[in-house]
Amino acid sequence: MNPLIELKNVSKIYTIGRNIQVLALNNITLQFNVGEFVAVSGPSGSGKTTLLNLIGLIDVPTQGTITLDGNHISMNGLAQLHRLRLQNIGFIFQSFNLIPVLSAYENVEYPLLLTDLSASERKKRVEQVLAEVGLSELANHKPRELSGGQCQRVAIARALVNKPKIVLADEPTANLDSVTAQEILQLMAKLNQEENVTFIFSTHDPKVVQLARKIIQLRDGKVEQIVMQDNNTVENRKELQGDRPDQPVTKHHRQRGKTKSSANRH
Ligand SMILES: Nc1ncnc2c1ncn2[C@@H]1O[C@H](COP(=O)(O)OP(=O)(O)OP(=O)(O)O)[C@@H](O)[C@H]1O
Ligand SMILES: [Mg+2]
Repeated sequence: MNPLIELKNVSKIYTIGRNIQVLALNNITLQFNVGEFVAVSGPSGSGKTTLLNLIGLIDVPTQGTITLDGNHISMNGLAQLHRLRLQNIGFIFQSFNLIPVLSAYENVEYPLLLTDLSASERKKRVEQVLAEVGLSELANHKPRELSGGQCQRVAIARALVNKPKIVLADEPTANLDSVTAQEILQLMAKLNQEENVTFIFSTHDPKVVQLARKIIQLRDGKVEQIVMQDNNTVENRKELQGDRPDQPVTKHHRQRGKTKSSANRH
């Protein structure tokens, strides 16, 4: 089976002004399969947001190729990127990004207004997904009438309402206290299992990282290692594994390639 997402030798260079270049991702090769639950971790500046933006088709690589569900992502087709993003990807943001004047229900319904679904089909979908995140009772509340954790549940419902194959979340728990952060992650893990949606989220929080089944550790724009965990507990943490989940659990996986400093010299 083909991977859902494949990055091959992907690099991202940001250019600031005329002369300054920042190598944010350095020759990354990664695969993600349907239904994976993946954390991207690493120090500030290691490239987490850049990686999620590329997977989410918000940005394009400077070098290398990205394939999403068999579609080769090209730099030329902005309309294609937009269509693929709408059809395949849901986003969850650190600061929730809810529309303050809309109720929880209306915030979740919002992405469906861009589709051809009828009003009754939209209602069915919104009610179903609000029930899945445990917010049916609060559907008419505006964001200011909800706690941070409840706001993030609305955002998760909104990310899922279009039935995407992939949900991307950049630091989804950074604005939440640690108990609520764990609850939100448990909810994401439950939805991942029930709906078989691929979740890829970034985090600084070691407790949140431990809930992932696969951890991609970035450093200086490179994959430092990939850690596979058989289930969500630290106790059951397994040996480190290569980047193909169907390979036997064996050893640390390190990406080879030019270092940041040597690549910068070219
Ligand atoms: N738009 C941009 N223009 C120039 N440089 C950028 C831009 N976005 C990111 N960078 C640089 O690229 C590198 C990777 O940044 P990125 O935001 O991906 O890191 P991060 O791991 O998400 O960090 P954090 O944990 O602080 O969110 C950093 O050196 C950063 O300064
Ligand atoms: Mg970031």
